[in-house]
Amino acid sequence: MKRHEFLRELHKASGNRNYLEIGVNDGRSLRLSRVPTIAVDPAFKVVTEIRCDVHLVRATSDDFFARDNPLVHLRGGRHPLRNLRRGRSPLGYWRRTVLDLAFIDGMHLFEYALRDFMNIERHSDWTSVIVFDDMLPRNVDEAARDRHTSAWTGDVYKIAEILGRYRPDLVTVLVDTRPTGQLVVFGADPRSTVLRERYDEIVAEYEVPDPQKVPETILDRAGALAPEALLQSGFWRPLARARSLGIRRSRGWEPLRTAVEGVAGRRS
Ligand SMILES: C[S@@+](CC[C@H](N)C(=O)[O-])C[C@H]1O[C@@H](n2cnc3c(N)ncnc32)[C@H](O)[C@@H]1O
Repeated sequence: MKRHEFLRELHKASGNRNYLEIGVNDGRSLRLSRVPTIAVDPAFKVVTEIRCDVHLVRATSDDFFARDNPLVHLRGGRHPLRNLRRGRSPLGYWRRTVLDLAFIDGMHLFEYALRDFMNIERHSDWTSVIVFDDMLPRNVDEAARDRHTSAWTGDVYKIAEILGRYRPDLVTVLVDTRPTGQLVVFGADPRSTVLRERYDEIVAEYEVPDPQKVPETILDRAGALAPEALLQSGFWRPLARARSLGIRRSRGWEPLRTAVEGVAGRRS
């Protein structure tokens, strides 16, 4: 299954009510969204019809997240009075906006993708689904930090190992999509400070000069799950239901964790 096909199915399976995309380029992944969306890219050049209510932001993701209210577009209106006039609850304006689905596909260096995850997680919770692109480079050249190939994953594949080491509380599933795989993350915890506290240490360890030593398990895709297996799992419906009912993490996360790990066979 190709990566955009997987994303299209993920939009359906996850039952997301909003969407954040980091890295837009010409809009081929953005066009899959049908829900209120924010899309961030300092150099987007959208050439395809977009079929959702989208706020396109021409900025780097770091600059975007440094704003006061980066997700204001996803709130129930821009101002409480405007909400009242439209017959919506004014409380929507103040309520914390939680991301349901996020796609990280911006700068292909692991430290950028890690910061994107840290920033997104602050606006997520245990029902959020966060996807990284380009997690299975096909060769060492493609995985170089210093780009010298036309198809380029960079070294973002390191994210799977970093989250496994520093955030064992999350469940990560490597998915064998074409051409270069994706990582789906479940169980986000906006209160977690581990990555922020250990960011410098992580960067110091993982930022190494080319050529990168890409693990064999990444190159041969041994630990990656077939995308169909993840999409057809039975946990999506309860996940979407828990989200819409506002079920708390203390009640909902452990059953979801067990279900996702069951499907993934703890492969990643
Ligand atoms: C691989 S493309 C995105 C492709 C798109 N998601 C898709 O699947 O069709 C990567 C994009 O990330 C953007 N980008 C580079 N650095 C970025 C940054 N710091 N923040 C956000 N986007 C960035 C680039 O301008 C480029 O358009």
